[in-house]
Amino acid sequence: MQIGILGSGLMGGKLGTLFARAGHEVVFSYARNRSKLEKLARDSGTTARAGSPREATQDADVVLLAVHWSRVDDVLSKAGDLSGKVLMSCSLPMNDDDSGLVIGHTSSGAEALAKKASGARVVAAFGTVPSEVLFAVFAAKDNDARPSLVYCGDDAEAKPVAATLIEDVGFTPVDAGPLAVARYTEPFTLLIAKLAYEGDDGPALAYRFEHFEELL
Ligand SMILES: NC(=O)c1ccc[n+]([C@@H]2O[C@H](COP(=O)([O-])OP(=O)(O)OC[C@H]3O[C@@H](n4cnc5c(N)ncnc54)[C@H](OP(=O)(O)O)[C@@H]3O)[C@@H](O)[C@H]2O)c1
Repeated sequence: MQIGILGSGLMGGKLGTLFARAGHEVVFSYARNRSKLEKLARDSGTTARAGSPREATQDADVVLLAVHWSRVDDVLSKAGDLSGKVLMSCSLPMNDDDSGLVIGHTSSGAEALAKKASGARVVAAFGTVPSEVLFAVFAAKDNDARPSLVYCGDDAEAKPVAATLIEDVGFTPVDAGPLAVARYTEPFTLLIAKLAYEGDDGPALAYRFEHFEELL
């Protein structure tokens, strides 16, 4: 796949690197320093390059949105028309000091994004794990017990595309349903962040759902 990265920081930089290592063509965009994008591209191998948001999105099959909530409007305006594209978002609707969600209960960041990027096929994915765990999950891809990763969206063709990328990074994709389920996954991430950043075992944390036979 051709993947455009909008926001090449902790999440976008690492996910773009792993998508490239999994064999996809990646364009890193949107950082304050062009040399950072070029270094990311160099370190990711021959299938990655640096570009502007417009260059990242114009030929992309999938666009990853990985910016702070306060930068969403700016990066979308720079990216241009995303209608028909799979827009995978790990961005959370956090306030300016990242202490709480600014959207919840009756909507979600993912649903607000779908309104902003009209016509894009939005899937919420990757936003429920800390960036610190991504390389370790990729390195452990061949282990039997992969961690889970929930994703949700309303577009039946976009969701398998996101699921493939989730598998490529090393997780077991868990389809949580329509985009409105992001009302639950976004606050769930705050729990994960609390455990990752305030727990005793470090931030490289992932989660795994297990099903059991019900015993009556
Ligand atoms: N970090 C996590 O573990 C994590 C986990 C789950 C979800 N999320 C969510 O994922 C999203 C991205 O988080 P992140 O931690 O990856 O953020 P980040 O490291 O701050 O990356 C954001 C990117 O946007 C760029 N940017 C910011 N302002 C800009 C501007 N004025 N012009 C051009 N580029 C600009 C940054 O550029 P520079 O590189 O120059 O700073 C950076 O490349 C957020 O919505 C966050 O809530 C994060």
